Amino acid sequence: MNNEQGPVAVITGAASGIGRGLAGHAAARGMRLVLADRDAAGLQSLCDELKAGGVQAVACVTDVGDVQQVERLRDCAVEQFGGVDLLFNNAGVMQTGFSWEITDAQWQRMLDVNLGGVLNGIRTFVPLLLSQGRGAHVINTASLAGLVSSPLMAPYNVTKQAVVALSETLHYELAMLGAPVTVSVLCPGPVASEIMASNQVADSAGSSFSQLLDNTIRQGMTPAELAAQVFAAIDEKRFWILPHKGFKPALERRVQSILQETNPLFQMTDVEDDAHAAG
Ligand SMILES: NC(=O)c1ccc[n+]([C@@H]2O[C@H](COP(=O)([O-])OP(=O)(O)OC[C@H]3O[C@@H](n4cnc5c(N)ncnc54)[C@H](O)[C@@H]3O)[C@@H](O)[C@H]2O)c1
Repeated sequence: MNNEQGPVAVITGAASGIGRGLAGHAAARGMRLVLADRDAAGLQSLCDELKAGGVQAVACVTDVGDVQQVERLRDCAVEQFGGVDLLFNNAGVMQTGFSWEITDAQWQRMLDVNLGGVLNGIRTFVPLLLSQGRGAHVINTASLAGLVSSPLMAPYNVTKQAVVALSETLHYELAMLGAPVTVSVLCPGPVASEIMASNQVADSAGSSFSQLLDNTIRQGMTPAELAAQVFAAIDEKRFWILPHKGFKPALERRVQSILQETNPLFQMTDVEDDAHAAG
């Protein structure tokens, strides 16, 4: 992955939260950055800040739900830096509410961004990464919700579980080819970010739940802490990245419920941060 001028990292959803944390950590490691977000102002301010610190960075305003814009992002990375070493398919949005009350448009937005964005990233960038004939790594941001479902988050659970399935499939396919391209799936619990600003609350139960979720996220792990764990996992070429170890019992409970064919039991602690339980 290393080259003389530093590896090239493409990061979607870079303007805020987790993406911004990943950008900061990548910059500290001497990487060259291709920053993508649909928030043009936020993206430019991050890019300016990094460049002022001597980082080689380029901003490319991109809606990850639009494949043509993702193709433009790939072309921008190739034109600016000659290739890509790390691809972070990270952009995502939130939707709470009862499954049956969430509108067609709200479901579609979640499918387009949370699943479509990752799919567009894979379909656009993996052929490039394979053609380069050198090591490269794809990191897809799913969520704890990609492994454990909670009520009132159906489109989030559905899209994040799809991202986990897509990532595992990609991992197997690249291994079948013996390709030097590897994959990780990032499944964090709460991380302090602006994601709840993207929530289009659908109903009364959704609004009280979203308030609780908002509080939990605000008290979550910092994006910088998360980024350090993500890059440590990339160094190890580790597929599963579960930074919040305190959630493992919920995952174990789910697996046992499936294996023993007992009915699923949700506990509120499944979505609360157990002091971001790093250990
Ligand atoms: N914050 C958490 O607790 C948490 C936990 C697990 C997973 N995640 C996931 O982490 C990822 C990053 O979210 P975050 O928490 O940093 O939220 P955030 O809102 O702070 O950052 C998300 C960024 O993505 C951008 N974005 C949204 N839709 C986009 C689109 N269509 N095209 C391009 N950019 C778009 C936003 O403008 C924003 O800058 C998401 O996939 C989210 O689902 C977050």
